[in-house]
Amino acid sequence: MGKTVAAFTMSLDGFIAGPNDEIGRLYKWYFSGDTDFRVPGVDRVFKVSQTGADYLKEEWSKIGAMVTGRRDFDVSNAWGGQLILGVPHFIVTHQPPQEWLGEESPFVFVTEGVETAVALAKAAAGDKNVGVGGSQIVQQCLKAGLIDEIQIELAHMLLGEGIRLFDNLADYAIDLEKIEVIDTPDVTHLHFRVVK
Ligand SMILES: NC(=O)c1ccc[n+]([C@@H]2O[C@H](COP(=O)([O-])OP(=O)(O)OC[C@H]3O[C@@H](n4cnc5c(N)ncnc54)[C@H](OP(=O)(O)O)[C@@H]3O)[C@@H](O)[C@H]2O)c1
Repeated sequence: MGKTVAAFTMSLDGFIAGPNDEIGRLYKWYFSGDTDFRVPGVDRVFKVSQTGADYLKEEWSKIGAMVTGRRDFDVSNAWGGQLILGVPHFIVTHQPPQEWLGEESPFVFVTEGVETAVALAKAAAGDKNVGVGGSQIVQQCLKAGLIDEIQIELAHMLLGEGIRLFDNLADYAIDLEKIEVIDTPDVTHLHFRVVK
């Protein structure tokens, strides 16, 4: 059985995007290295360190489906209609967008909440992991005990303001066990297991 993994690039002060959803500064590490990393499923090539490329190749090959939120979907412009990593995407929303409901749509919209979205994604992923994106979705999944691991790509910067990944978790003290720490010039990869 695969795991459910929340993976984000985060600033040292805890932000995963700026106040207007800007991610350019945070994502600088994807473009500051000398090794090409072709992102499966989309027309995108990152330039990261060799260590970063090895890390991404290993971790992303384990992902068999994605669950994320409607804001992530909208802000990214539906990823240009492509499936990141070439895996099924389950988008949690109260109201699916009409323009993406046709038979040709690569996306599945889930209106029954995060438990249903994660269950559908697990079934689609088989033995592989489910990646969870969207801070609101991650927070709800953490509260419901649905996250097994957290992977933070800690960008070496302070963003000052924006969207915090771990907001709204008062009353949910969660312990983590370190799995791995990998240091690279622009980002430190922090990998934790959620203690249940
Ligand atoms: N740094 C990184 O690695 C990284 C990665 C991914 C995303 N991001 C950033 O994260 C931001 C998006 O995250 P976010 O927290 O703002 O939003 P989000 O979690 O992606 O989506 C929140 C939306 O999902 C819908 N939703 C949430 N819970 C629901 C439920 N239980 N049932 C039905 N619908 C539900 C609601 O939309 P509706 O009511 O409209 O349906 C809600 O407004 C963007 O700025 C993106 O750039 C950063």
